[in-house]
Amino acid sequence: MNNTKPTPGKPAQIIVDGKTLECPTFVGTENEKAMDISKLRDSTGYVTFDNGYANTSPTTSSITYLDGDNGILQYRGYPIEQLASQSTFLEVAFLLMNGELPSKTELEAFEKEIESHQTVDESFLKFFDIFPKKAHPMAMLTGATVGLSTIYQTEVDPANKDFTKKNAIRLLAQFPALTAAAYRHGKGEKRVAPKKGLDYASNFMHMMFSQNDSYSVPKEIVAALNLLLILHADHEQNCSTSTVRLVGSSAANLYASVAAGITALWGPLHGGANQAVMEMLEEIQKDGGDIAKTIAKAKDKASGFKLMGFGHRVYKNFDPRAKIIKVACDQVLKTMGIQNPLLDIAKKLEEAALKDTYFIEKKLYPNVDFYSGIIYSALKIPTDMFTPMFALGRMPGWVAQWKEMVEGGTTKIGRPRQIYTGYTKRDLKRG
Ligand code: COA
Repeated sequence: MNNTKPTPGKPAQIIVDGKTLECPTFVGTENEKAMDISKLRDSTGYVTFDNGYANTSPTTSSITYLDGDNGILQYRGYPIEQLASQSTFLEVAFLLMNGELPSKTELEAFEKEIESHQTVDESFLKFFDIFPKKAHPMAMLTGATVGLSTIYQTEVDPANKDFTKKNAIRLLAQFPALTAAAYRHGKGEKRVAPKKGLDYASNFMHMMFSQNDSYSVPKEIVAALNLLLILHADHEQNCSTSTVRLVGSSAANLYASVAAGITALWGPLHGGANQAVMEMLEEIQKDGGDIAKTIAKAKDKASGFKLMGFGHRVYKNFDPRAKIIKVACDQVLKTMGIQNPLLDIAKKLEEAALKDTYFIEKKLYPNVDFYSGIIYSALKIPTDMFTPMFALGRMPGWVAQWKEMVEGGTTKIGRPRQIYTGYTKRDLKRG
């Protein structure tokens, strides 16, 4: 596994209030430069202030590389375009979690291992029955994921590499059953057990939709799902992954850390955007398809409305995942003979936004969530299940990032500073 140490650079100087701090600098394998400011407060009394960690790297990582200016995304060095067109989701999961693509034998063994752990005990799945029928699946999945730790309670110590290996497999193998259980609960349907001999994507669709033994998943559906899962598999230090790492930095176990990542993903500014995009498109459709009105609302700060599925903290040119998904969207709908008027609305909306100076100047482009929902809909996945689908895809990334941090052994507990702006000391006066 390639995990090169960053190359030291020339020290930088920070001069503040007449005090000088020599900061070590270093460069990553893709030439990203960093300044180590960990001694800044001790030497000068200052801390850095960085709203939203927009300019902060709390870690080095050898998993995923992202160049937002040039629209590059690579898992372990492999371009996302190549992985998306030539791999399966489990190959990519193996790559993220182990550092290299599996050989044929390794892949077969990995698939077998996943298959042998894919069943979740029915007594545990009864957990879903306590929720209201309309419960959001992301809430149920958060609870179920942390709940899994109770089954393996004696084997969750993050310091034990063998336990980590087992728990990584268990999570990846069992999350499809949990996701399908959340869906079936909302539909009021009986849960369906996983079926041996099916690939990961087919088995998931089987647990979601099978009504009888004759259910089989068309190959175009398997291909579309596989593609979406790969595109969502990792995205370096995004909000949910940083959450997984932050929680894990306290030595919380893998299940607890990933469950926290699921809650972070739920927000509409992160993974919840895929659901929000679909709701926005439906709203536009109901409103007679008035694109100009939507664009005007998104530009009006007082409206509190943003164009969902647009903009990204890091991508400032294009999101390579969105490009792939847009092409796939057309293909999937065509092969499945589906016409979805929301796709036309989405395309018109994109076209109008990309011509508008507001979006051009702020470098706002469609992101991964803009077109993914239209594919999910074609696969008959309902809108409130879009974000769980994102979580299903992101699982190997969360696991890989947590594993890298824990096994690296150098991460300190995440504990940011603040600048206090409340009352200064005052006395309590009674009576
Ligand atoms: N619609 C309208 N305006 C947007 C916008 C959008 N989708 N995204 C960003 N902007 C505007 C902001 O209001 C801000 O304007 P200002 O400079 O006049 O204050 C400017 O563009 C910069 O955006 P900012 O919110 O500072 O960027 P960020 O890096 O903090 O946030 C996102 C990134 C993704 C959270 C943000 O673009 C967003 O909310 N997008 C919609 C939700 C979404 O699709 N999320 C999925 C991300 S994969």
